[in-house]
Amino acid sequence: MSGDARKKAEGLSYLTGFGNEHASEAVPGALPEGRNAPQRAPLGLYAEQLSGAAFTEPRAHNRRSWLYRIRPSAAHPRFTRTANGSLRTAPFTETVPDPNRLRWNPLPEPAAGTDFLAGLWTLGGNGDATQRSGMAVHLYHANASMERVFSDADGELLIVPERGGLLLHTEFGRLHVEPAHVALVPRGVRFRVELLDTSARGYVCENYGAPFRLPDLGPIGANGLANARDFRAPVAAYEDTEGPVEVVNKFCGNLWTAVYDHSPLDVVAWHGNHVPYVYDLRRFNVIGSISYDHPDPSVFTVLTSPSDTPGLAGVDFVVFAPRWLVGEDTFRPPYFHRNVMSEYMGLIEGAYDAKAEGFVPGGGSLHNMMSAHGPDRETFDRASAAELKPQKIDDGLAFMFETRWPVTLTPDAARADHLQQAYDDVWRGLTRNFRI
Ligand SMILES: [Fe+2]
Repeated sequence: MSGDARKKAEGLSYLTGFGNEHASEAVPGALPEGRNAPQRAPLGLYAEQLSGAAFTEPRAHNRRSWLYRIRPSAAHPRFTRTANGSLRTAPFTETVPDPNRLRWNPLPEPAAGTDFLAGLWTLGGNGDATQRSGMAVHLYHANASMERVFSDADGELLIVPERGGLLLHTEFGRLHVEPAHVALVPRGVRFRVELLDTSARGYVCENYGAPFRLPDLGPIGANGLANARDFRAPVAAYEDTEGPVEVVNKFCGNLWTAVYDHSPLDVVAWHGNHVPYVYDLRRFNVIGSISYDHPDPSVFTVLTSPSDTPGLAGVDFVVFAPRWLVGEDTFRPPYFHRNVMSEYMGLIEGAYDAKAEGFVPGGGSLHNMMSAHGPDRETFDRASAAELKPQKIDDGLAFMFETRWPVTLTPDAARADHLQQAYDDVWRGLTRNFRI
């Protein structure tokens, strides 16, 4: 939480590129040459593979990394169950899926001493973590750095900070994440979260399905949307500490804990493509219409988790970044729509162009499968009468987790004090204008 920590975070080096083979060593000579598991790994390290894909998945989708560490991960005591707090996992069966349009204010202040893990609060989700399908929407609100280490066997974590900088200490090294950045922690990778400000707030998509990848670009061509070179992986950095360290493992929906006699963030060198990343959403190359209408928001996809059906994502991460609107004779805000996909939206900063008020940074909305939504009355009236000059939308950064199945709420989310009771009212007063 000190200025020193921020300075250190800002000075970190990174490896660039998404999905390609990276390699890094914190100590010269720690990375073996020419083989993954030599008879004796350099410097007395242990060689260990971390697989994020089945061994036999196609090369283009295969994910694995080799870690060279002070102790092998296998050297740990027995895990025992611990309280899940406000974390919940698919299948979500404690409430019935709700067809209503829903919107929440930000999470309330947490109790003092709440770290990132304790500050996670599950809104809902779909699929089944044990079947490696579906996703969960979590929010977090924390005011303490983690002393413990966390890993999630159920899925990868896409962390979307809205308030407060984070320094992620991962097995692969350190990542500095600020609001308007996102961080991706792959399934099973251990990490702890240090806060760079007095508190931190944001969103997390836990993706149980296929790992997020960059979307295909089709006719857009070889460049655009999120460019691979703007994703940054950490350089190797390790902790060589003895003494008790609590390690919490999320496994099939429950938290399990064990006290190690050393830090498991002890990887001195690594290579592979199953690695954490950070990405600055302001680098997103926004594609849009330069004639009329505007494309579907799929054109704002940063990362996609494909399903077995071509073109149908388990979940897409979509950003509504600053952009010019120039469409002629066009209703420029998002149009009225009903969608077979389910949409959870959050706001990182500023305002969103389809809503006049009530959708605030740190809050969120859920428009489940086929629920009718779109601009509120005030936005509709304004946009219908606006003079259509080129217009820069640059006062907000919103995002969407768009998923193939309805999001079923947790009881906490369905009964939350911060659930807005009158959200439907934003569409009241959309009067009949029909005339013959
Ligand atoms: Fe929508």
